[in-house]
Amino acid sequence: MRALTWHGTKDVRVETVPDPKIVNPRDAIIEVTSTAICGSDLHLFDGVIPGMEQGDILGHEFMGRVVEVGSGSSLKKGQRVVVPFTISCGGCFFCTSGLYSACDNSNPVEKQDASEAAFGHAMSGIFGYSHLTGGYSGGQAEYVRVPFSDVGPIVVPDDLPDDQVLFLSDILPTGWMAAENAGIAPGDTVAVWGCGPVGLFAVQSALLMGAGQVIAIDHHPRRLELAESLGAKVINYRESHVAEALLEMTGGIGPDAVIDAVGMESHGLAPDRLLDRAKQAVGIGVDGIHALRSAIHACRKGGRVSVPGVYGGFADSFPTGAVMQKGLTLRTGQTHVQRYMPSLLHRIAEGEIDTTFLISHRLPLEEAARGYQSFRDDQNSWTKVVLKTPASGWVG
Ligand SMILES: NC(=O)c1ccc[n+]([C@@H]2O[C@H](COP(=O)([O-])OP(=O)(O)OC[C@H]3O[C@@H](n4cnc5c(N)ncnc54)[C@H](O)[C@@H]3O)[C@@H](O)[C@H]2O)c1
Ligand SMILES: [Zn+2]
Ligand SMILES: [Zn+2]
Repeated sequence: MRALTWHGTKDVRVETVPDPKIVNPRDAIIEVTSTAICGSDLHLFDGVIPGMEQGDILGHEFMGRVVEVGSGSSLKKGQRVVVPFTISCGGCFFCTSGLYSACDNSNPVEKQDASEAAFGHAMSGIFGYSHLTGGYSGGQAEYVRVPFSDVGPIVVPDDLPDDQVLFLSDILPTGWMAAENAGIAPGDTVAVWGCGPVGLFAVQSALLMGAGQVIAIDHHPRRLELAESLGAKVINYRESHVAEALLEMTGGIGPDAVIDAVGMESHGLAPDRLLDRAKQAVGIGVDGIHALRSAIHACRKGGRVSVPGVYGGFADSFPTGAVMQKGLTLRTGQTHVQRYMPSLLHRIAEGEIDTTFLISHRLPLEEAARGYQSFRDDQNSWTKVVLKTPASGWVG
């Protein structure tokens, strides 16, 4: 089959590789129709996530048709499914508590040592995302093996096209969980750093949850325009002083909740961000937390800080003082995708949520490498790339 494989920093290639096979009874093989490139994939492309190996197949946002099932799968051949990026067993303490991204059984024991050393505990397996999370082959491919297929994939009705449901695999539940973690009460002001896919879905979710005012922050005009079209007020951080603008928009109090949908690759020329970069450049592996610092700084006293943005290491100058003194609550995590899929699918089917506004480019899988480069280099106009395989019937 054809698949997108990783060969090093900024080197991904579509190659012919062996087809996946059923390995365990609960596996299913999915013939992929649509698969998206994620901001998290760019961390692999940029070589900032350790634990990648030559030839790894990328992709954790994908959907398609079931073509083969093991004896323990609950799926049936021919069903259309969207697959969550987190791989979860469904039976461990964490899965039964709804904490699917903390599954204890999907990240093989021999892969757990490195993440245990870094985090204290190993996290779940993730498709197409480093050997620290299991080294599972991803779905930017014609076929993919889905472990625990009786727990993860959600069957979608044939009348909902791929582009409407694909984002159930990651970014829509991630935006939703980000808003949920912000603990929004009706009428609240919520500020969202980053208008990438995660930030935009967080904006949409916060408004659905009853926020009175959502303020979105970025510097890409096109992305800010999309946030505005969803109903947010916007701040371009290149043109305005974010903290001052937020005070002005909240009667001098600050937002009730703040969401960091940027993560460790925050941009900008703020001194604290340049210091993080300088330390990274000399090999001190610190997470760039500029966006998180400014979110914590701006949040009102007693407010909530929600962090869907990904961090992987350690941070310098983390504002412990502001968190403690202002009595902030901080909630974060890899998304427990399986927990949110059914209700979000229902909202899509009812027409309450549209996700297609986000897609700026559709490309054949063969052009995936170009998609990565452009999504990375031209964030303003490349808001989300969906790759189509021949099985999708898409003709461009
Ligand atoms: N928690 C999860 O399970 C989960 C799932 C998916 C993605 N993520 C993470 O969420 C984050 C966002 O993902 P995405 O796909 O939207 O990424 P993206 O790279 O497309 O978007 C990030 C946006 O942040 C903006 N930005 C950068 N610096 C900023 C700053 N200082 N202030 C305001 N905006 C700034 C960029 O201009 C960009 O538009 C990433 O860290 C990604 O890895 C987390
Ligand atoms: Zn993703
Ligand atoms: Zn589990």
